[in-house]
Amino acid sequence: MLVLDSVENVQEMIRMWRKDGDVIGFVPTMGFLHDGHLSLVRAAKSQCERAVVSIFVNPTQFGPGEDLDAYPRDMEHDVALLEKEGVDLVFAPKPETMYARDHSTVVIVQGLSHVLAGEHRPTHFAGVTSVVAKLFNIVRPDKSYFGQKDFQQVKIIERMVRDLNFRTQVIMMPIVREPDGLAMSSRNTYLTPEQRRQALILSQSVKWAEKTHAAGETDVQKIITTVTQMIRAAGPDLEIKYVTVVNPKTLEPVAKVGRGAVLLIEVYVGKTRLYDNVIF
Ligand code: PAF
Repeated sequence: MLVLDSVENVQEMIRMWRKDGDVIGFVPTMGFLHDGHLSLVRAAKSQCERAVVSIFVNPTQFGPGEDLDAYPRDMEHDVALLEKEGVDLVFAPKPETMYARDHSTVVIVQGLSHVLAGEHRPTHFAGVTSVVAKLFNIVRPDKSYFGQKDFQQVKIIERMVRDLNFRTQVIMMPIVREPDGLAMSSRNTYLTPEQRRQALILSQSVKWAEKTHAAGETDVQKIITTVTQMIRAAGPDLEIKYVTVVNPKTLEPVAKVGRGAVLLIEVYVGKTRLYDNVIF
């Protein structure tokens, strides 16, 4: 497995693989890998001749006062995990490799980036789309893999790919959960044992909504109200940012829970931001 930090070396390697006709699968990450990331890697491995993973804690997607410095990192462990999965190339650039001192270009997906999480993190998705656009230009993947837990992120990247004619197929993989239901996230390590216990209400309420809808409930307000009450009752450390049911393309609230609508939840547990969702 190659571990490279230079853009030119990655591009050269990819050029050679492309010349051989290899299909390139790409998993962008910020490292501190868990089974959620590895499910993306395994999908890339099974669907492509070459699997490329990037590890880069992207500073531009963290707002002022957010957890850029505290974000968990363990490059050695990540590299060992990826080696075991049979990944072909890890791109782990330094911040100064990705961003020139006077970098001044930003990719913004209007609309979708400013609703939901974008309302209280106004610059976050511009940071995500800018770095993912750069990574797509460097790796030129045929297929790229993202996790459903970050549903809004996936929809924004799909829109960017369509609008800017990137030649990659965006593939969204299902949420991977801990045995007790908590959606896997690198940020789960921030939780105290008590906060982690309270956080279980996210997956429990999502599961409740899924079951209730399967039993015939289509009343959006009823689902949102009950999920909200369940979360509020679960503990003093929980702060709801939103509980909403949206159209999966526009991310606009729907009037009725139809097929394909998505329940999206963002909750702060203490200072830790957690997401969960279900596609009905
Ligand atoms: O989901 C993430 O880990 C990041 O937002 C991504 C897509 C790697 C961009 O930095």
